[in-house]
Amino acid sequence: MKVLLVGSGGREHALAWKLRQSPRLGKLYCAPGNAGIAQIAECVPIGAEDVAKLVDFAKDHAIDFVVVGPEAPLTLGLADRLREAGFPVFGPSQAAAQLEGSKAFMKDLAAKAGIPTAWYGRFTDIEKAKAFVREKGAPIVVKASGLAAGKGVILCPTLQEALDAVDLMMAKREFGSAGDEIVIEEFLTGEEASYFALCDGQRAVAFSAAQDHKAVGDGDTGPNTGGMGAYSPAPVATPDVEAKIMERIVKPAVTGMADMGAPFTGVLFAGLMIKDGEPKLIEFNVRFGDPECQVLMSRLDGDLLEILHAAALGRLDQVRFGWKDETALVVVMAAEGYPGSYKKGTVIGGLNEAGKVEGVTVFHAGTKGQDGQILANGGRVLGVTAVGSSVKQAQARAYQAVERIHWPEGFCRRDIGWRAIAREA
Ligand code: AMP
Ligand code: GLY
Repeated sequence: MKVLLVGSGGREHALAWKLRQSPRLGKLYCAPGNAGIAQIAECVPIGAEDVAKLVDFAKDHAIDFVVVGPEAPLTLGLADRLREAGFPVFGPSQAAAQLEGSKAFMKDLAAKAGIPTAWYGRFTDIEKAKAFVREKGAPIVVKASGLAAGKGVILCPTLQEALDAVDLMMAKREFGSAGDEIVIEEFLTGEEASYFALCDGQRAVAFSAAQDHKAVGDGDTGPNTGGMGAYSPAPVATPDVEAKIMERIVKPAVTGMADMGAPFTGVLFAGLMIKDGEPKLIEFNVRFGDPECQVLMSRLDGDLLEILHAAALGRLDQVRFGWKDETALVVVMAAEGYPGSYKKGTVIGGLNEAGKVEGVTVFHAGTKGQDGQILANGGRVLGVTAVGSSVKQAQARAYQAVERIHWPEGFCRRDIGWRAIAREA
């Protein structure tokens, strides 16, 4: 099969790496890819959001199957345009991608389908929003409804902070049109986890759980990022909790989307808060998590190409896969300054040596190749991933590999997996 993979992050490098292991894979193209992906696929210089060019590329190169990594092209209708042109696609339609693209849409679906989640109100009027905040009191959470690059969520411990957050989004328009509508919701407490399910429009198949570390600093301190590290499986997602997630959250959502004429095909990523064994939905994403994908792919025991293709064709009942009896853990290395401003173009060395540590694979995120060197080309730059017989062993291997990487302008957290290791002890 000739496959086109869309995206350029660590998530896409992990997908490319696992697709490569499939005996069914012929040629693999990636648009636009990164320096790591270029070692295992042919990268083509088309941006992930350039819908028209991606469709033309698929036609010109007689692509058999397209896998879309990030959410932005999905919310722009890439999967719809490709399907109209006759290509099977792993990734939801524009209508189904609203589950991530509009928090107001997601909350309405959850309410209709009876999915356990935070109570909420949705507002386009600033005074009504403030009245709701005053009525409910703090702590409370204020969210821009649209896509805001993971920054449109403000957790407000006090009433004043909540009123300020409403002003920031609706009066100062800090998040632009993403804040035209806002969602105000209950502040949930518990332990967070990311849960994944593959969907073929009708069916949903469990695809395991991971936990990530969103804060930039050790001890989960400092501003939130796209994710500084992750591990899988997630000890908090016991078999009993997993069953509740599938029955109460994932399946009602997939059925609800099919019932409204927007069947969901792709991977549904449920961000959850789990307390006393009871999962509640925080949000849905319509793609794999990054860096969660890196650990899921490291554990997957199966033919990824066959699995994703079956999902795209509505035949998930026909595939079988399992999970290796190992834990995987990824440590993200980011450019100094991230998630604020950072430098690009610094030189990274020692990647081959790092990759020789037992159980380790170094996935690239924001990198580019130039004159035989690997240069940093983004905020999150590498995902140093290791498998091991325990979280502790996977963590030790990942940090051993980090030590071999020579990149003075980069940094990483030193405590990825701490919560799970505390449980193992
Ligand atoms: P999001 O951008 O929706 O992923 O939210 C970012 C983070 O904010 C989540 O990962 C949670 O840690 C936190 N968060 C979002 N909604 C809530 C909520 N209702 N209660 C508590 N924490 C939340
Ligand atoms: N790591 C969280 C996300 O991909 O949204």
